[in-house]
Amino acid sequence: MTADLFESIADVLPSREAMAEGAMLLRGFASPFESELIAVLRDIERQAAFRHMITPGGHAMSVAMTNCGELGWVTDRSGYRYEGNDPETGKPWPAMPAAFFRLAGQAAAQAGFSEFSPDACLINRYQPGARMSLHQDKDEDDFGAPIVSVSLGLPAIFLFGGSKRSDKPRRFRLEHGDVVVWGGPSRLAFHGVAPLADGEHALIGRQRINLTFRKAR
Ligand code: SIN
Ligand code: FE2
Repeated sequence: MTADLFESIADVLPSREAMAEGAMLLRGFASPFESELIAVLRDIERQAAFRHMITPGGHAMSVAMTNCGELGWVTDRSGYRYEGNDPETGKPWPAMPAAFFRLAGQAAAQAGFSEFSPDACLINRYQPGARMSLHQDKDEDDFGAPIVSVSLGLPAIFLFGGSKRSDKPRRFRLEHGDVVVWGGPSRLAFHGVAPLADGEHALIGRQRINLTFRKAR
């Protein structure tokens, strides 16, 4: 009886898993919003297409990217930075949909960061084989705000290390609907994504989409 009750509560409450001090994995937190998120994503993609950006070292990234919000993260031969306009079209990035802003704020609050007000959302598209090497998110002015990262589609292995590149990262399997929040003492943690395994997701297809919300300014 008691066990049954706990199981049914576990079904409806998304679980919170501490990854490190200031870092939290909220399993399934975005699942209730999946249809709305997918609909607005299509809209964004129509205005600002996914593209493989070039690193300062001259390599095309395996992850395809676009952005929404006041600012978008870009890279090219001259470096990493935030830009108000999409360099491909010269137009402002699509506005951040209310559904994105709300989800990011609610996830941050669940993880203990109240009043998160992102002005940038980097949208990453991983097709099988795409990966992201270990890096810190440090192009933002404000490290007081956390990073909120939403996973949709195929599962991925997320690597989460410490504040030094040499800290051995832990591996977390992120599934459709999972949200990771890192801030405070974990704000500058090195993180990355292992090469995406092939598969087919019922709603998203043969890819993984990651939304990364930041307060850039
Ligand atoms: C990122 O660090 O920008 C992406 C993380 C992810 O795809 O989960
Ligand atoms: Fe990152």
